[in-house]
Amino acid sequence: MSEAYQQLLRATIEHLERLRSRGVRFVPASTDAAASLSRPPAGRTARRSAPTTEKQPAPPTPETSPAAPVVRLRPPAPGENKQRALETLQAEATACVRCPNLAAARAHVVFGVGNPEAALMFVGEAPGADEDAQGEPFVGAAGRLLDKIIQAMGLRREEVYIANVLKCRPDTPGRRSGNRKPTPEEMATCKPFLLRQVEIIRPRVVVALGVTAMEGLFERRCVITRERGRYQDFGGIPVMPTYHPAYLLHHESVREKRKVWEDMLRVMETLGMEITEKQRGYFLKARSQS
Ligand code: URA
Repeated sequence: MSEAYQQLLRATIEHLERLRSRGVRFVPASTDAAASLSRPPAGRTARRSAPTTEKQPAPPTPETSPAAPVVRLRPPAPGENKQRALETLQAEATACVRCPNLAAARAHVVFGVGNPEAALMFVGEAPGADEDAQGEPFVGAAGRLLDKIIQAMGLRREEVYIANVLKCRPDTPGRRSGNRKPTPEEMATCKPFLLRQVEIIRPRVVVALGVTAMEGLFERRCVITRERGRYQDFGGIPVMPTYHPAYLLHHESVREKRKVWEDMLRVMETLGMEITEKQRGYFLKARSQS
């Protein structure tokens, strides 16, 4: 991305931040202007290169293949600095006003957080109130449970990458609280950001947290009770669908927790992580009681 384009983007973002700090919640802009700001500059797509030669174990074979558009991931640009590429993408997302209602209602664009070199990436639905307020995904109650899952896997939050299908909180006009599911249009509009995140990070495994994550990634309907636990292919990257942590918060059953945990054990196996006997046994003993 050219320095001139980056400067223009930075200046636009600063201008918009200044307006927001003065209480301006909506900036009129033509569709063309908004689209050209959020589009990568000409020439960027031409910088294709051969896939990385880094040797990694073959990904697991996808276990189901319901009809869905074929996902093609752009190979990494030679010498691409992942951190910098993510920062540039974040700047684009921060300036995005493609969903004017969401842009007007949001406190923050919740881009994503974690290690740009992560082997494991979690994808959730959309920011809730806590995430919108703090600008970071999964920092509320569901996020605390996700942190526990990550820790139980023997990882730290900083070692993985966490993002959502939608980068803005779905607005709930006329309501003071509560969340709503993103619409298919909102998910499709925001999809290029998630796709680029996956392309830049190139995790070895993606965990899709819940039905919306699956529907956002694969652009088709998903019945998570049927699909969880079975890898699906996302442009060469295995995606493990599992239940959303919020589901576990509402269904405090050891049986359901074990299902998610079994999905994580499979992920750990795929990543070649060491698994202790204790880890293998989590949520097993009390399973028959719930
Ligand atoms: N739920 C999500 O799907 N994402 C978040 O960031 C928080 C809650």
